[in-house]
Amino acid sequence: MERCNVAIVGATGMVGQEFIRVLVQRKFPMSSIKLLASNRSAGRKLTVGEQEIEVMETVPESFEGVDIALFSAGGATSRHFAPMAARAGAVVIDNSSAFRMEPDVPLVVPEVNPEDIRQHNGIIANPNCSTIQMVVALSPLHKVNPIKRIIVDTYQAVSGTGTAAVEELRVQTRQVMEGQEAVPHVYPHQIAFNVLPEIDVFLDNGYTREERKMVQETRKIMHADDIAISATCARVPVFVGHSESVHVEFNSPMSPDDAAGILAQAPGIRILDDTTISLYPQPWSAAGTDEVFIGRIRQDTSNPNGLVMWVVADNLRKGAALNAVQIAEEMIKREWISPKGVVK
Ligand code: A2P
Repeated sequence: MERCNVAIVGATGMVGQEFIRVLVQRKFPMSSIKLLASNRSAGRKLTVGEQEIEVMETVPESFEGVDIALFSAGGATSRHFAPMAARAGAVVIDNSSAFRMEPDVPLVVPEVNPEDIRQHNGIIANPNCSTIQMVVALSPLHKVNPIKRIIVDTYQAVSGTGTAAVEELRVQTRQVMEGQEAVPHVYPHQIAFNVLPEIDVFLDNGYTREERKMVQETRKIMHADDIAISATCARVPVFVGHSESVHVEFNSPMSPDDAAGILAQAPGIRILDDTTISLYPQPWSAAGTDEVFIGRIRQDTSNPNGLVMWVVADNLRKGAALNAVQIAEEMIKREWISPKGVVK
């Protein structure tokens, strides 16, 4: 198998660290790996498998000889550097929201729309974490019985916001336990022992941008512009693992058993559903794993064509780093990328 020169932009971050772990764990065929971040981290060393590799500042010249550039350093950094990386001949897989809705940028979940990868012009977008796990769960059902409407409520972990938010939950938890005031910096209010129904900025229609992402991205990935979708996204004091309560309305009735049967055969999914022993997906046990876990599959008693389910995944892995690496693996498997060979 051909080996690629890989660069990670945002290597010191929450998702960047997960990129490194996923690449090593999956034995991704690499001939070299470049760790890039801001000038604040230049010179720091990070462990990649058995090696210690120095982090370099991201500069325009960083991408010469790079085959695959995995970006997770925020939208502004992607907007600045991703086009440069693409011009230098790298295929960018970008975890930010900067390019997701651009018509010529494929937005890909490999279990759902791998063929879209081929349309790229140098940049492929990795979808929003909450969207990824939902479309993995819904797309196999949609193929059998078209979905008309989705109502989803999310319970999202702080690691989705980045390193500073993880630290904020840690510090505030200690502060509350010690009877001190918990001071918010990253979020508008205390996150420890609290729930905040605000992720990303509010829009004129009262929804947040995160909620709009779930609507627009789901339609783009599933090639289904006519699905009606309404989302409420909440931040919860969980470190890793997003949970979602998903209410789906199909064209015609679908029994929970039929849905479970379809989902059990679908890629990337594990069913955990036995209410007699309180078996259902939980973020604590999903953290560090690769699957999208589904449970509590039941008839929607308010709608004869409706089902309800509980969907959980590791937001840093399937919701971010793993999905991006799977896109790269798909390109290699289908020979849609020609590695440049070892670059000195
Ligand atoms: P750094 O650690 O040098 O600030 P997180 O999402 O966990 O907050 O991580 C954000 C990532 O994005 C970090 O790796 C951070 O690097 C990186 N980053 C932030 N700003 C830039 C920039 N201007 N250029 C390159 N990387 C950046």
